[in-house]
Amino acid sequence: MSVKQSLVELPLDLDRQRIPRHVAVIMDGNGRWAKSRGFPRIIGHQKGVDALKSLLRCCDDWGIEVLTAYAFSTENWGRPTHEVEFLMTLFERVLRKELEEMMAEDVKIRFVGDLKALPDSLQAQIAYSMEKTANNKGIQFNVATNYGSRQEILHACKSIASEVQQGKIRVEDINEELFERNLYTGELINPDLLIRTSGEMRLSNFLLWQMAYGEIYVTPTLWPDFDREEFHQALLNYQQRDRRFGKIKH
Ligand code: FPP
Repeated sequence: MSVKQSLVELPLDLDRQRIPRHVAVIMDGNGRWAKSRGFPRIIGHQKGVDALKSLLRCCDDWGIEVLTAYAFSTENWGRPTHEVEFLMTLFERVLRKELEEMMAEDVKIRFVGDLKALPDSLQAQIAYSMEKTANNKGIQFNVATNYGSRQEILHACKSIASEVQQGKIRVEDINEELFERNLYTGELINPDLLIRTSGEMRLSNFLLWQMAYGEIYVTPTLWPDFDREEFHQALLNYQQRDRRFGKIKH
């Protein structure tokens, strides 16, 4: 990644006042991308990393504050063992390889999900990367790994119930803010835009609470082919939306 560019590169047809602050992505279609070319599925995941790197750089260039990517869901453990093992090794390798560039670009990386179930060496690399980049002031890059939104909500309920049980808070203190703080995403702003590639119109257990008022954009493009122009189109579409948050316009 190059030294942070100014917003000069923002396409002229995009309104810089209406750039989403937080973009989330469901990177779907890696397997199909590979299969359609006669490659094993893992090649699709490798290409997927390149697409994610380009998107991160583009978000940074265009003034987006937070990018959250769904890398591995709690349901993904059900894939063939060799694919799961490949993905775990890939995450670790990518983290190790990209850390220097993330530091140079001032990227702050954070992992959200139940990280305790991940291989020890990956957990260690995650902890190291988060600690190293903790004080960076550039784009915040969240990687949802072993993430499932229902589990996240249950986890929040249990933490809050335990605080009530210990007398630290009262039931009357439970409100949206407190609940949100107990989610894996914590103090993060909610996504303004969720992009899903490969055409499926589902949230697939991703950011169910956080997406209450987020806009959803689905493209038939498979994830490894999702490039700057595709992102440009997604933002153009987003900027045409009338976001009312349940209210009416006067
Ligand atoms: C979905 O495609 C993709 C995944 C489950 C893995 C995505 C992970 C990456 C791109 C790596 C990210 C790495 C880091 C370190 C952040 P699929 O396999 O479900 O494709 P299909 O629907 O065509 O089968």
